[in-house]
This record gives sequence, structure tokens and C-alpha cells, in this order.
Amino acid sequence: MTALTLSTSSAAALRADAVVVGVAKGAKGPVVAVGAEAVDKAFGGKLAAVLETLGATGAEGEVTKLPAASGLKAPVVLAVGLGEVPAKGDGYDAETLRRAAGAAARALSGSKKGAFALPIEDLADATAVAEGALLGAYTYDKSNGNGGNAKDKNKKNNGPLAEVALVGGKPRDKAYKAAVERATALVAEVNRARDLINTPSNLLNPAVFAAEAVAAAKEHGLKTEVLDEKALKKGGYGGILGVGQGSEAPPRLVRIAYTHPKAEKTLALVGKGITYDSGGISLKPAGHNETMKCDMSGAAAVFAAVVTAAKLGLRVNLTGWLALAENMPSGSATRPGDVLSMYGGKTVEVLNTDAEGRLVLADAITRAGEEKPDAIVDVATLTGAMVLALGNRTFGIMTNDEAFRTTLHEVAGEVGEPSWPMPLPDHLRKGIDSPVADLANMGERMGGGLVAGIFLKEFVADGITWGHLDIAGPAFNESGPFGYTPKGGTGAAVRTLVRLAERTADGDLG
Ligand code: BES
Ligand code: MN
Ligand code: ZN
Repeated sequence: MTALTLSTSSAAALRADAVVVGVAKGAKGPVVAVGAEAVDKAFGGKLAAVLETLGATGAEGEVTKLPAASGLKAPVVLAVGLGEVPAKGDGYDAETLRRAAGAAARALSGSKKGAFALPIEDLADATAVAEGALLGAYTYDKSNGNGGNAKDKNKKNNGPLAEVALVGGKPRDKAYKAAVERATALVAEVNRARDLINTPSNLLNPAVFAAEAVAAAKEHGLKTEVLDEKALKKGGYGGILGVGQGSEAPPRLVRIAYTHPKAEKTLALVGKGITYDSGGISLKPAGHNETMKCDMSGAAAVFAAVVTAAKLGLRVNLTGWLALAENMPSGSATRPGDVLSMYGGKTVEVLNTDAEGRLVLADAITRAGEEKPDAIVDVATLTGAMVLALGNRTFGIMTNDEAFRTTLHEVAGEVGEPSWPMPLPDHLRKGIDSPVADLANMGERMGGGLVAGIFLKEFVADGITWGHLDIAGPAFNESGPFGYTPKGGTGAAVRTLVRLAERTADGDLG
């Protein structure tokens, strides 16, 4: 991964492949942002004019590369757009800096070192630039196919920018050092989630995913338990088994736990981990199945968040539950109309085998509830309906507790992850009544994302605070990269979960 260093040198004196400066959209053309003074000086104070001549406007996400003027150690200047100039006295908000740093880092892919001279006025700004640069530098290059020996031939890129030097960072200040450590740990785990999501389904089945969790747990002192298909059968996990039984690759339920000796609260995180969602017998049509390797993004986010908590030593207990299965059609697959006996004893009529996420989650939520955590949060690429409702960048929040809904929404906002609260209207409950079972796995088509939430709520034990994050939109970016978000797996919800854990550790669960 990209290394991050704090630098006291001036932007002009740093040896790097490029020096990154900010450019904002002023009333009369582009304006060079604070932090770029030394660079502007090398251009005789005319950097803004040069940028304007090159067509730069300062619009958010805009990247302009130009040869450096003499007096600068770096051969290239990269100006990244920051959008509107903030009102007098205000700085740039954290998300603006995060995105700009991300776009710049991505534009420097394959380079050795970037000197980031963006407008950093305090610790929060430095943290945002650090996070954004590390997140934006990510590249995925592991598509070697099966059969094994394609390695270098298949290389799709030159790898991430190797080093980010933060100009204006304070290397001797403890708080700055801690912020760098936190950003590095956090982004390494966001990138772990992205790698898992981007890994093709023929290379990442439930058993492989479980093995990854066990290996990481070993490295970071976490406890794991893996239920294989035999143990799942013995335990009566009919939801996970029912979804996985059509695949040659059997399902798993992984419990991965981080505990702190002084923790006062325990959070259970439950992740949907469908390593491939074909739809099963209710097969998805072409056009709807090409990206379905991403259907384990919830489990990837949960896994990454638990490991991050361990790396940061947060004063909270986090129990991750990864509900892993591959949803495939075959002679052994669950048929529409079959009734499953779920963990805990409820029965479910499977009307549509493509509504599989709620089945694996139901088992895992019931199991998680047995341990009486202070709250359960599940994360899932659950419904296409949520994508229709909120688009590709915003996840939906559903809960059984208003205060918790506010907390989740706030926490997501703090880390720059767009989210929106969605209701769980009671009238939709009767739609999932079944004549042959306690529940059906499908109800009214309208409000499909909320119906899924209402289904899950049935499996939350009385008295437990529960939140459901439907990340079907933001989990996988099918269009071009933007800000610090790459194409493909995004690592959506990892930072929200980590921030929630941090707030819980601080006794501020809401
Ligand atoms: N994994 C899909 C949801 C999805 C859609 C994720 C688009 C990412 C992008 C889920 O398992 C699914 O197929 N849901 C169905 C439910 C329906 C059959 C009730 C859907 O949303 O169409
Ligand atoms: Mn499905
Ligand atoms: Zn699915």
C-alpha cells in the first residue's frame, strides 16, 4: 500500500515526481489555494494565470498537470480542483479535501512520490488529505484467472502511487502522528474490502473468504469460529444452507471477534456475503449478473471494520458475522415455493430465490442476537429497489430505533459516506405473510428495499437495537472513478462502521 509521511519541508524543496496543489473556482477564474505559496512563487506568482490558460477552472475533481517552473525540485505540478472558494473565514470541508487528494493520488498512479501541498490548516484537514490520498491511490491488480500462471502478463496497471508526503504535516506532533497511523490502518482495511469485492467469484468462494478471515484474525489477535456446511446443518441454519445448497462451493458462517478488556459496549456487525449471486433458480437475466461478484460487499465491510478496530485498539467489543454462500441454480438448489427452517425455528417460504440475502442475514442476525449485544448492524447489497430509490452513491438506513437511525446517519456523514434514512412502514408486513410458512421471502414489489428491511426486523430479538444498511448502490462503482472512489469495489460502509465503533468506544452511541 501507499506509504504516508508528514513533511516539514517546503513544497518547493521536496524531491518528488509531482507536487500537488489545490485550485479553487473564484469569481474571476481559478484561484490557487493556501499551501501552494512556494509553488506559486516559482511561477512568479502567475500559477493561477497559467492554469487558466491551460483551461483549468478549479471545478471539483478537475486535474491539470503542468511542467514545474525552475526552483521546484519536483518536475511536475499537479493542480487539483477544490470547487467553490469557501466563504471568508471558513476552510475547505473535510470531504472536499478527501476527494481532491483522492483524485490527485489516482492521477499519479505508477509514480514513486507525490508531495501534497493542499490547504491544510489543522489536524482535521491533514487527516482528510491523508485519508483521501491513500484511498484514491488504490489500484486492483490481482485478476490472474484460474490456472495460476498468468501473473505478470495480466498486469492491468503500474500499481498505486508509492508514497504520499503531506506538506504542512507536523511529524513531531503526537496528534498528527496518531492521525497518520489511524488513516493508514483504516485505509489498508478499506482496501482489503475492495480487493475482496474485486476478486472474481471463481477465486473467492465462501471457504476461501472464511480462510482469509481466519488468517487475518491470527495476524491481529482476533478470535474466529467457522461453521462449515456440516456444522451449519447441525446448528439448523436453514437460511444459509438453503441459499448455498445449489452451489458446488458450500456455505460458511464466520464469527470474527475483537474484544477489549475495558470495553463497556458490544456491537454485533452482520455482513451479507454472497460470493456470487446468479439469482438461483429465479435466475437473473443477462445484464443483471455481470457485477454480482460484489454481493459479498457487506461481509467484506464487516470483516474490514473488525480488523481496523483491532489495529486501533478501540475500547469496544466488536463481533463480526460473515454469512457466506454462493447463490447458484442446479439440481440441488432451493426451488421457488420451498420452505426453509431458519436458525431459531421460524419457517420461510422462498418465493424468489433471488431474494437470498435476507435469508442468510436472517440466520446470522438471529445467531448474533443470542449473545445480547448492545446493538446489531447488518450491512448488505440487499435490493435493486434501494438503488432505484437512492442512486449509486447513497446507502439506505433502516432501524428499529429512531435515535440509532440518527446516530448511523450522522456517523456516515462524518466520514463522507452519503446515506439516507428509510422507513419501515407497518402496512408492508402483511405482504410477506405466507400460507405455508411463518413468512415469505418476498412481498409487495413497490418499496422492495423496505420490504427486505421489514423481513430482517422479524429476526431481531426483542429489546435489541438494530440498524440495517442497504449498500446495493454504493458498494460497486460501475462507471468511472471519482474523488477517492475507484471503479469496482468501493469499500462502502467500512469507514462508517469504524466511526460507529469509535463513537461507541467513546460512550457516545446515541
Ligand atoms: N444482490 C441483489 C441486489 C443487488 C442489486 C445488489 C443490484 C447490487 C446491485 C439481491 O440479492 C437481489 O437480487 N434482490 C432482488 C430481490 C427481489 C427478488 C425481491 C432485487 O432487488 O431485485
Ligand atoms: Mn439476489
Ligand atoms: Zn444478492
